[in-house]
Amino acid sequence: MANTRTVTIINGDGIGPEVTAATLRVLEALKVPLEFEFKDAGSEIVAKFGTNLPHETVEAVLRSGVALKGPTGTVVGGGLPSANVGLRKRLDLYASLRPVKSVPNVKTRYDGVDLIVVRENTEDLYAGLEHIIVPGVVESLKIITEKASTRIARFAFEYAKKAGRKKVSAVHKANIMKLSDGLFLDCCRKVGREFPEIQYEEVIIDNLCMQLVKDPTRFDVLVTENLYGDIVSDLCAGLVGGLGLVPGANIGERTAVFEAVHGTAPDIAGKGIANPTALMMSAVMMLDWMDLREESKRMANAILKVYGDGKVRTGDLGGGATTRDFTDAVIAAL
Ligand code: NAI
Repeated sequence: MANTRTVTIINGDGIGPEVTAATLRVLEALKVPLEFEFKDAGSEIVAKFGTNLPHETVEAVLRSGVALKGPTGTVVGGGLPSANVGLRKRLDLYASLRPVKSVPNVKTRYDGVDLIVVRENTEDLYAGLEHIIVPGVVESLKIITEKASTRIARFAFEYAKKAGRKKVSAVHKANIMKLSDGLFLDCCRKVGREFPEIQYEEVIIDNLCMQLVKDPTRFDVLVTENLYGDIVSDLCAGLVGGLGLVPGANIGERTAVFEAVHGTAPDIAGKGIANPTALMMSAVMMLDWMDLREESKRMANAILKVYGDGKVRTGDLGGGATTRDFTDAVIAAL
């Protein structure tokens, strides 16, 4: 096909290969003009490659410009640095975009949740720059730069404007981290002044968590640093029914990697019961980003129809469907 584009596929670890295979089945049923090139990353390939992020995987994403990625595992404590952090840094995927939206028929405490988490993806404590000063004393470096903070603030406001959103809330702890989070806030304020049509507010992270749990509908677009964004994304996922549902994108100037918010779910890996919705919805975002709008809409509508019908749902949402059952239902709904 003349217009066929290549997407790099990274299966990842744990439930990664299961939800990736399910998502590819839907993309194939959609007959999208895409070719898939499979590359490796994650903890399960270390014995074979001596690394969790082979150079050729990074090269492949640089070539194709777009990847769909399953979750990759990272050991707690020792072990190799995270493949995710490495990929985001090496491809300069500076913006993490995570739409959190109520799903039809998935009963939670709140209806009508519709939030966007925009997370800076390259620096902050999450960069894992740590060292032992003397035994028993560890230093972990929180680096916040004007360049990265301005870039993520601009991304958030531009996204808000394009998506017809009304408000951007900058999430911080500048009352305590006066210099680092203070710099982040200064950058958000400066960029915010360029977008007078969008309401701007600042919320301290701990207060945000409480407010989100009390009434998530008062928020619209949240922009925040890397570590706060990591934690807040999971909290927000919990508001709409859990990690099985929330998609994500890591976006740079020239490349983008689409992946679910969830991890490798070791407790259910290999059982064929993972909910593939989050990665499927990440693929919906990918199609949209690639200007395959029609296909993106069809895929989203099919997934939402399965939820709307209320017959097929996976165990994380109280149902008995397997990953395959759910995928079959989405394909039937296309
Ligand atoms: P997790 O997200 O893998 O699992 C948390 C809970 O949510 C588990 O009970 C799991 O069964 C459930 N869950 C997650 N996704 C699900 C799905 N699609 N369907 C049904 N249930 C689902 O978080 P955890 O256990 O903290 O992390 C496990 C590993 O994943 C770690 O090594 C971590 O570093 C890695 N991780 C990787 C990410 C990535 O590659 N983007 C993101 C988050 C974690």
